[in-house]
Amino acid sequence: MKITEAYDRVKDLEWEPSYISEEEKCVETTKFFIKDAKPNDPFKTFVREYCEQELEKDERHYALLEASARLHTGEPDARWMEAMKFGLSNLVGVEYAAARAMGRMARTVAPVELRQGYMMQMLDEMRHSNLEMNIIRHHMRHWKDPAGYDMAAVANANSVGSSIFRSMTEDLMTSDPVETSIGLQVFIETGYTNPFFVGLSSSAAASGDDMMASTMMTIQSDEARHMANGWATLSCLLNDDRNIPLIQDAMDKWSWRIHTSFGTGVSLFNDYFVRKHTDSAKEMLNRWVMDDFYGGFYQKLEKFGIKPPKFLDQMISDLDWTSHTTAVYLFGAWPVFFHRYDALNDDDFEWFEKKYPGFYEHFGSFWEAYGQCKDPEDRKLVLKEMGGLPNFCQVCQRPTIFPRPDLARPRSMAFRGKNYICCSDGCEHIFRKDPEHYIGSKSFYDMYEGKNIADVTESLGYLREDGKTLMAQPELEPKRMWTIDDVRRCEYIIERPAMPPKSDLGDL
Ligand SMILES: [Fe+2]
Ligand SMILES: [Fe+2]
Ligand SMILES: [Zn+2]
Repeated sequence: MKITEAYDRVKDLEWEPSYISEEEKCVETTKFFIKDAKPNDPFKTFVREYCEQELEKDERHYALLEASARLHTGEPDARWMEAMKFGLSNLVGVEYAAARAMGRMARTVAPVELRQGYMMQMLDEMRHSNLEMNIIRHHMRHWKDPAGYDMAAVANANSVGSSIFRSMTEDLMTSDPVETSIGLQVFIETGYTNPFFVGLSSSAAASGDDMMASTMMTIQSDEARHMANGWATLSCLLNDDRNIPLIQDAMDKWSWRIHTSFGTGVSLFNDYFVRKHTDSAKEMLNRWVMDDFYGGFYQKLEKFGIKPPKFLDQMISDLDWTSHTTAVYLFGAWPVFFHRYDALNDDDFEWFEKKYPGFYEHFGSFWEAYGQCKDPEDRKLVLKEMGGLPNFCQVCQRPTIFPRPDLARPRSMAFRGKNYICCSDGCEHIFRKDPEHYIGSKSFYDMYEGKNIADVTESLGYLREDGKTLMAQPELEPKRMWTIDDVRRCEYIIERPAMPPKSDLGDL
């Protein structure tokens, strides 16, 4: 039988159940016009072939992992290994959310060819979650300090920093299911997985973490099919003119949402987790996202009437500062995280200044202060010395210090009698279009206002086995590790900062 005939046979297995109405079957509806489209099957793979392919990849990867565990190949760089406690904790959550999103899309989006692709992608995403849980397990067993890796999955759910990624994945899973394809398959997978998985794989290799490099490469080998799913969905939508304004809205929203979440992660991980630097995150993002994705893929959509994303100029200029601002947050607020990190040294300063002219002027003082607040005997928390935590954005959940603390323009607006804060024009635009979608998340201050920061660490559970010593430390090899009592004695009480000025657009 010809392969195309076999596909048609498989598609014939689709049936319309008589015992349930269409509304009940498709739990969630879509505002897009896609039901009667006749797309090509983007995956063009049978389940049997698919499983064989993936099994072969898994066997190769897990054999390497096993060999490395036995042979103890090399000592990876400590800065990388510590920072990846945070990195992997988030990544595994994103993959799992992608699997859930695919299942949801497969129940909703009508053409069987697309649903077939989504179902296969769901299996891929489960495979990716497993791969990442396994590298966490591998690191937990072999890295000299497992504390932090042992609770990466918990931290994904409760860390304040992870809310940057959680807010993105929760938005993906609760938006219109076709919009989810645009956010996930077009922006994340087509736009950002190259700097993420390929960039991070070379960063891992440069840091001596070959097992992580192998994990990233085997994941990336599936992404081409996910991009194909995205393109198949998008081209169906583009064929119906009624969809064009809806697509434009989704493009404006998701380009910014992914820039503030996945883009923030890519910037931070590639610039700050790596000691042996190659390309900067800005160079990677310019090459893969700005040139290849926006300059290539996205530009081809213009002939269908799709305009450049509303906040593209801001996204480009943000690349100068995103990684440094994120680092100030992640490392400044170290007691509420679960990794160790050392102060930047002269070599780092030189590299950062070369890649990001003006770096030292804007971020040098933070890193000098960080280096002076590492000894628990001094009772100094860099966070307190720098004036405490700022407000957080209701949409992207980042602190309102982006793109750079002195350039940030946080603003507030009332909705149904309560004030909400947004960090930027992009997040405000998204909030105003659909405030109900975002008002549910509690802010850091709703949960912790008035508490000593030591209470926050304790309630998050980021303590070592003795119940006293922090998982996180502001140094890689401290003479004495910080305990919860050391943190408590610094007397940093969480205070809610003043409300930022009202938005120029007023209340909702
Ligand atoms: Fe994935
Ligand atoms: Fe994917
Ligand atoms: Zn925001």
